[in-house]
Amino acid sequence: MIVDIITLFPKLFDGFKTETLIKRAQQKGLLTLNVYHLRTWARSKHQQVDDTPFGGGPGMVLKPEPLFLALHDLTGGYQQRPLVTYFTPSGELLNQRLLKELSSIEHHIFICGRYKGVDQRVLDTWVDRQISIGDYVLSGGELPALVTLEGMTRLIPSVINDIESAHTDSFEDDLLEGPLYTRPEEYEGQKVPEVLSSGHHAKIADWCKEKALEKTRKYRPDLWQDYIKKNKQK
Ligand code: ADE
Repeated sequence: MIVDIITLFPKLFDGFKTETLIKRAQQKGLLTLNVYHLRTWARSKHQQVDDTPFGGGPGMVLKPEPLFLALHDLTGGYQQRPLVTYFTPSGELLNQRLLKELSSIEHHIFICGRYKGVDQRVLDTWVDRQISIGDYVLSGGELPALVTLEGMTRLIPSVINDIESAHTDSFEDDLLEGPLYTRPEEYEGQKVPEVLSSGHHAKIADWCKEKALEKTRKYRPDLWQDYIKKNKQK
């Protein structure tokens, strides 16, 4: 997978590029991550990349020219056009289903917005998807891009050692993941539920499912309602 990131803050990606999962994916040749400074494509005298919005109002808007030039450069020379994603709180909500879909695409360009947003002509001409990571407003698209990158990368086959673990994650079966325990069997008077050391796989699976259902009902009534609806139809 190739991911090209366009940002005004490339240094924000430094730690992430050289640690843990993203590093491993790059070392294994499964991910190529390129981080580009938007100002590289600024042509005005002061390398300005933003301007005030037409029609007035507070905040600045990213100008079309640097982004058009960047996108021309980064999409040129490929037979298949990369998927261009813009991160914005007004995009579609990111979830595990969308991450799976994205992880099957070979070449991505991520545009990280700053200030108020980007000129609409960039969205109309270049952007295939607009993604939000939640109903709250951050100062830019860099953290959302990293969240999406991490979520996508761990779904590339052989990036994480234990792919089984990815398949038992929360949301894999539309439920939150239940409680987990490790050694010691008793800690400060609290014991690990007996069933987990019984060795009885079917009973353990039933217990885990029951706990996942309890947790989902308590913390995510929206997911719980969807689950009930889906399973009623079955
Ligand atoms: N940019 C600012 N806030 C955002 C959010 N919640 N999701 C995606 N991009 C953003």
